[in-house]
Amino acid sequence: MKESHVEHFLRVAKEACIIGGFVIKEYFGKLLSDHIYFKGEKDLVSQADRESEDRIRDYILKHFPDHSVVGEENGGDAKGNEVWFVDPLDGTKNFVSGFPIFGVSVGLVVEDRPIVGAVYLPYFNNLYYAAEGLGAYKDGKRISVSTRDVLKRMSVSYGFPSRAKRELNLYWEIIREVFDKVGSMRRPGAAAVDLCFLAEGIFDGLIEFELNPWDVVAGMVIAKEAGGMVKLTKGLTNGTDVIAGSSYIFPYLEEVVKLKLGV
Ligand code: IPD
Ligand code: CA
Ligand code: CA
Repeated sequence: MKESHVEHFLRVAKEACIIGGFVIKEYFGKLLSDHIYFKGEKDLVSQADRESEDRIRDYILKHFPDHSVVGEENGGDAKGNEVWFVDPLDGTKNFVSGFPIFGVSVGLVVEDRPIVGAVYLPYFNNLYYAAEGLGAYKDGKRISVSTRDVLKRMSVSYGFPSRAKRELNLYWEIIREVFDKVGSMRRPGAAAVDLCFLAEGIFDGLIEFELNPWDVVAGMVIAKEAGGMVKLTKGLTNGTDVIAGSSYIFPYLEEVVKLKLGV
């Protein structure tokens, strides 16, 4: 049977993620200090991030020379109808310090609509992926968001950048309110991976602030196709926030964020 356009996009997204993941795997635990660069006081990038992005970009453009690619490390213009968003290593700090929660995230937006996403976790060799209308999968098996319906049994992941633009107290207030109501809160440190954990029902909800399109495009397609609800407070722009969850918890999280941040 002939592969549809979306299936073709999805296949390339999966392959690109794994190609980036091989680079990441090679460096894990072996990174030398002169392979770590500081973009800011607390902002790191490593040789692994850079090489992974180069390989992914080349692979996507080899298949789709007319598409554009925007990557965290090398930028790129979001021009034309098909734009790929690449985070070559989401969770760089985890990676550098040996905490195995990190991933490679490749997502495609067509006419402003995120339609394909793949996230590969090199340490665990897990591949999450989804395409609009085709469902969400982990290593070939269908996944779906949790069905828990009692807040005190739920787990919510959260996150914000180390150099947040908003007043930090706003985030502490949100976390304090949610912490009070739910069973547990977690801060694993890789937004794209957190969205996959939500998609497979580990987390029930997610609130992560001041992210960029490469952090969220792939994961949001996966979370939505797994039956989750996802809101980007500023759409697909830099500094956007993501609120996501099962239909049981999403309205509550959305309300808390709206009350505290007005978005
Ligand atoms: C970061 C992670 C983290 C989030 C930060 C992101 P990076 O991505 O996703 O969880 O809170 O805002 O910048 O820098 O490791 O690709
Ligand atoms: Ca990231
Ligand atoms: Ca990154």
